Amino acid sequence: MATPTENPQLDKAAGLLRLARRIAVLTGAGISAESGIETFRQPRTGLWARYDPMELAHVDALARDPKTVTEWYHWRFSKCADARPNPGHEALAKLQKLKRDAGGDVDVLTQNIDGLHQAGGAEDVVELHGSILRWRCQKAGAMRPIHEVDFSSFPPTSEAGGVLRPDIVLFGEMLPTGALEAAERAVMSCDVFMTIGTSAVVYPAAGYIDLAISRGVPTVEINPDATPMTGSVTHALRGPSGAVLPELLRRMRD
Ligand code: OAD
Repeated sequence: MATPTENPQLDKAAGLLRLARRIAVLTGAGISAESGIETFRQPRTGLWARYDPMELAHVDALARDPKTVTEWYHWRFSKCADARPNPGHEALAKLQKLKRDAGGDVDVLTQNIDGLHQAGGAEDVVELHGSILRWRCQKAGAMRPIHEVDFSSFPPTSEAGGVLRPDIVLFGEMLPTGALEAAERAVMSCDVFMTIGTSAVVYPAAGYIDLAISRGVPTVEINPDATPMTGSVTHALRGPSGAVLPELLRRMRD
């Protein structure tokens, strides 16, 4: 794997980011990998190599076996609770501040549910798949922060007697309309699109890369491995985002 300094595409990508007024960024599990959070589809280490998403992350599984599903998400939350934002999250937040100070913007669209972009300083993050930090009552719809949920038994329940479930998007569920609209607006108005740490196979998020390409805006991918989109993006930067993003920011400012 090339180190950031050896990557010949970095200066070109930094030049694009320097000139851009509005940047849309789609992130996936890979940006949180260096914070110790498992990705989904990596062979051996990915969550879906060890667990069956149809048994744990599908809306039918929640209906069939709320105890197992909520226990599993509580276990996943415990990993997020221990995690801290890494230099990739922090560099992206700095890029957003830099562009906002200059009258532009960086829209952060994430498939992650871990809250680490916000913890790293990013603002107005569009959470396409929801957040594990909020749980909601299936009966009354009321939302509550995870630290107010009683996990002494599973599934947790609310005063209304409903099951409390994470406020995330399970397989078989629609994405939140507000997030979809915000994401589409961001992709349609950006002059550079970046995709970071996603295998780019889960729709609709993966479709945003196609949409940006179809608009003719330059696209940048940051990922240590090739993805189905690597051959279609303008610049594919090989490497972990915790190293590539800070380096990109440094070159952008030079
Ligand atoms: P995946 O696990 O599918 O892909 C993670 C990507 O991150 C892979 O392409 C890795 O090569 C890359 N990666 C690994 N380490 C990295 C690093 N240090 N820096 C940058 N990239 C790195 O995760 P997602 O694409 O996020 O949905 O998956 C999308 C959705 O599928 C998830 O939100 C989840 C999952 O099923 C639901 O649960 C609904």
